Formats: sequence, C-alpha cells, structure tokens
Amino acid sequence: MQRPVAMIAGLGAAVPSTVITNADLEARLDTSDQWIVDRTGIRERRVLQPGEALSDLFVTASRDALAKAGLDFSAIQAVICGTCTPDRRLPSTACDVQAKLGGGPAAAFDVVAACPGWLYSLTVAEGLIATGTYDRILVLGGDRVSSIVDQQDRGTAVLFGDGGGAAVVTRSTGGRGILGTSLGADGSLAELLYIPAGGSTEPPSDKVLAEGGLYVKMAGREVFKVAVRRMAQACQEVLDRAGVTADQVKLLVPHQANLRIITATAAEAGVPMDKVVVNVDRYGNTSAGSIPLALAEAERDGRLTAGDLVLLVSFGAGFTWGAVLLRW
Ligand code: ACO
Repeated sequence: MQRPVAMIAGLGAAVPSTVITNADLEARLDTSDQWIVDRTGIRERRVLQPGEALSDLFVTASRDALAKAGLDFSAIQAVICGTCTPDRRLPSTACDVQAKLGGGPAAAFDVVAACPGWLYSLTVAEGLIATGTYDRILVLGGDRVSSIVDQQDRGTAVLFGDGGGAAVVTRSTGGRGILGTSLGADGSLAELLYIPAGGSTEPPSDKVLAEGGLYVKMAGREVFKVAVRRMAQACQEVLDRAGVTADQVKLLVPHQANLRIITATAAEAGVPMDKVVVNVDRYGNTSAGSIPLALAEAERDGRLTAGDLVLLVSFGAGFTWGAVLLRW
C-alpha cells in the first residue's frame, strides 16, 4: 500500500437554516411524501434564501475546518472549490470565499465536476502537495442546487438541496491520508443530466428564460443505472490500486443522491449497509456538498477512528465519477 502524501487535517460542513419538508412540496406540487420517500428516501432538504450565498456556507464550514486543523486562514496557500453553482459567473467562488476569510494571496480557483466536485478537488490538492507546490490547501465542495432546479418540475424539485463542506488538506503525518484516487468521466452522455443554456453558446436571454433553459434536465432512470455501475467500478478500482479488499473498509461515504442508488452501490461494492453513511433523508442531494457533509457528520457522530479505511465515492453530471480511499 502506498504511503499517503496528503491528509485531511480538519473538516467542516454547513447547511442553510431553512428546511423544506416533503409536506411543504406536497402543498405546491403534484407529488406525495410516500412517492418521494419510496423512490428516494428523502424526507427534507435545506435551501438558501434570498440574501444568503453559497460562499457563506463555505465560510462557516472553512472556519470549523481551520479550527480543527489548528490553523489560521493566513496559513492557507490555495483555495480549491468544487461547485457547479458559483455565487456569480465571475470571479470563482473560491475567490469570493477567500475574500470573506480575509483576502489574498492564496491561489483560488473552482473545479466544475458536478457532484464529484469535492473528490476531484481533493485529488487536485493531493497532486499539488505531492509535487511540493503547496503544504496547506483549503478544499471546498458544495452547491446551491435550488438555484438550477425548476421548482415547478416534480421530477427534479423533490430531489435536491443546498449545502457544503470544507477540508484543510495538509502534508500527511503518521500514515494518515489519501491512499488512492480514481476519477473518470464520459462527456458523450452529457445530455442525460444537463442545463441546456446560460453558457457562452446560448447566454441567458428572454427566450432562454421562457423555455426553462437555465434549469437542470434529467433522464432519471438512465442516470440511475449508469450511476450505480460507475460508482461500483470506481470503488473497485481504487481498492485494487491500494491493494485493499472491500471487507477492510470501515466506512463507505457515498454520494447522497438517493437511498436506492446508495443501497445498490454498496451492494455492488461489497460493503454492508451498517458501514455506509446515509443522511440523504435530511438533506437530499446537495451535489458537491454531499460527501463533505456526510463525512463531517460521520466524524461528529464518532464513526471515524484513527487508522480506519474510509471509502468515498460519487457520480454526477458530465457524466463524472470518482472514488477516494483514505486512512483516517
Ligand atoms: N411525485 C410523484 N410522481 C412523480 C414524481 C414526483 N416527485 N416524479 C416523477 N413522478 C412520476 C412520473 O411522472 C412517472 O409517472 P408515469 O408512470 O405516469 O409516467 C412515475 O412517477 C415514474 O417515474 P420514473 O421517472 O420512471 O420513476 P423512477 O422510479 O425512475 O424514479 C427518480 C425517479 C427518483 C428520479 C429515479 O429515476 C432516480 O433516482 N434517478 C437518479 C436521479 C439522480 O439521483 N440524479 C442525480 C444523480 S447525479 C447528481 O447527483 C447530479
């Protein structure tokens, strides 16, 4: 097994205070609590309100992560933010968070990889530490998915929520940290989960707005099938690379898209459900926020012990997917 070069030295997470329950959705959409719970396992989700920003969640999560790592923000050399719902088109949300935490000169940039955005960002941070470029990196992951979902579309509105997390990633000590990563993508399947317009090809316009072109379009069943297959493959790949078997994994933290996807992925990956972190019932799918939120919750609940093997896996629009194996 390779010795890790980078580790998570501190972890934090944050969600908005506004809760939207299935009963709230029943009141304004042609849906039911039973349909949502049976098909997804989701009971409620959090959403940001006007005047609140995704970067505010990142600031809260970052302060927590920095405190746990025993570091001041001035020690951070780079801020990497996995998000597909930046506060604004320019600058990056990493720059906005950096400004709110005290300003430069740490490098700051966003990574657009949808739901696996935090795992992609973690992998970039590991590389920057491995090459000796930096020693202390703030890795953010989260989304304001409510801003890209048509709240009148029952097929998507019930699935998503807002949230984010942060990790302070430093040079590894004591054998802790990232043992392996496996990232992948298949852009040829993009149109199974995408936003048709609003980019440089078709900028926002009255026509785009009227046609709902700024909202997520999703072929749910197709996404489901590819998600399970790709996440199970990514788990196997990262375990094989590290020379570890599934029964050695103490905790699996899968992307919280849907309880049925989580259950199917865990079964294919050979990890029993008592070793799987599930909080999709309370937050829905928070995209790139999903894994840091679940991991931070596992830490808070005492489910992470030093030396444990922890497997993270995610899948999202692109399609993109990724798995990361950690020694906690
Ligand atoms: N309430 C009630 N009925 C609904 C709702 C709703 N909220 N949404 C859809 N339906 C109806 C459909 O219209 C359809 O009705 P019909 O039979 O009369 O045509 C029926 O329910 C079945 O619809 P399906 O889409 O076939 O239902 P399915 O069992 O596939 O479940 C779901 C839908 C939950 C979206 C599922 O396909 C899924 O979870 N897919 C993965 C989606 C996902 O997780 N995407 C994000 C992952 S990637 C990322 O995180 C970015």
